[in-house]
Amino acid sequence: MRTEKYTARAHTNIALIKYWGKLDQDLIIPMNSSLSLTLDKFYTDTSVFFDSDLDQDSFILDGVRQQNTKVTHVLDLLRRFSGEKRFAVVESFNHVPSAAGLASSASAFAALSLAASKAAGLNLDRRALSRLARRGSGSATRSIYGGFVEWQQGHDDASSYAVPLEENLGWNICMIAVVINAKQKKISSRVGMQRVVSTSPYYEGWKKTAKEDLIAIKRAIKQRNLERVGMIAEENALKMHALNLSARPHFSYFEPGSLLAMKIVENLRSEGISCYYTLDAGPNVKIICAKKDTEVILSALESSFSRKDLIVAGPGPGAELIDNP
Ligand code: PMV
Repeated sequence: MRTEKYTARAHTNIALIKYWGKLDQDLIIPMNSSLSLTLDKFYTDTSVFFDSDLDQDSFILDGVRQQNTKVTHVLDLLRRFSGEKRFAVVESFNHVPSAAGLASSASAFAALSLAASKAAGLNLDRRALSRLARRGSGSATRSIYGGFVEWQQGHDDASSYAVPLEENLGWNICMIAVVINAKQKKISSRVGMQRVVSTSPYYEGWKKTAKEDLIAIKRAIKQRNLERVGMIAEENALKMHALNLSARPHFSYFEPGSLLAMKIVENLRSEGISCYYTLDAGPNVKIICAKKDTEVILSALESSFSRKDLIVAGPGPGAELIDNP
């Protein structure tokens, strides 16, 4: 006997104020609140059903069977909440153009939380979905919502969840993803975070300024001040990467191509074009800009990068159920 199959779609998000360190490893409670923009171009579709014929969970990503303990972990939590005892079949498709190497765990765990909770017979509200997605991957907490989203740190499972700041922006803010390297990162975000929290002498400074950055960027978003939003995001990203450089042993996600893209952005800015960069736990650079400036920024980037590695994305929606494909 199997349950009905549910399919959910969730989009990825890029943090403008980063989450980079855990207060609680198991519950994934962050060291600071963070803020992101959900993007329209990159998303995951996930279908789930529970079936009494199964003797273990099965997870298939882009047609290939995977062993993923985090997926099983989220399903175990759901089984505990819902009383569902059966194992599940989870099938996911990542829609990220040409293996862009952009983090897909945010969209993946947001889509899984929605599809699996429905298949288990639960009707979770978005706060509960955000808490569940958090248990798979921190950044997934925010992908339940569209537009600008804040993940409020909280102090335990019940109080750590995302809230939507503005879901329908009506603002032509864009992100250009510069794909430097689509390969798997060498230092996972879990390992990177643990290392900076326990060894970087700058961690206290990070926590203090991340709080200030969050307040400032929320004000700048309200004022539709792209220059402020972009500058705060860029400085926040650099502080996160400075933690990595100051950890023991030190590490960095930057590659030569990352530094080149960052320089191009800084040069464009000195010529009067409003553009700013951010980087996560990988070498790819995301450029924050206004839609009207994308063409001039793309042509500056095209002197060093191939057009197929430059992807323009706009604000995207929150997680939703879709018809089974
Ligand atoms: O979702 P995780 O646990 O892989 O952490 C991602 C952390 C960053 O992407 C670097 C920052 C963020 O807030 O998304």
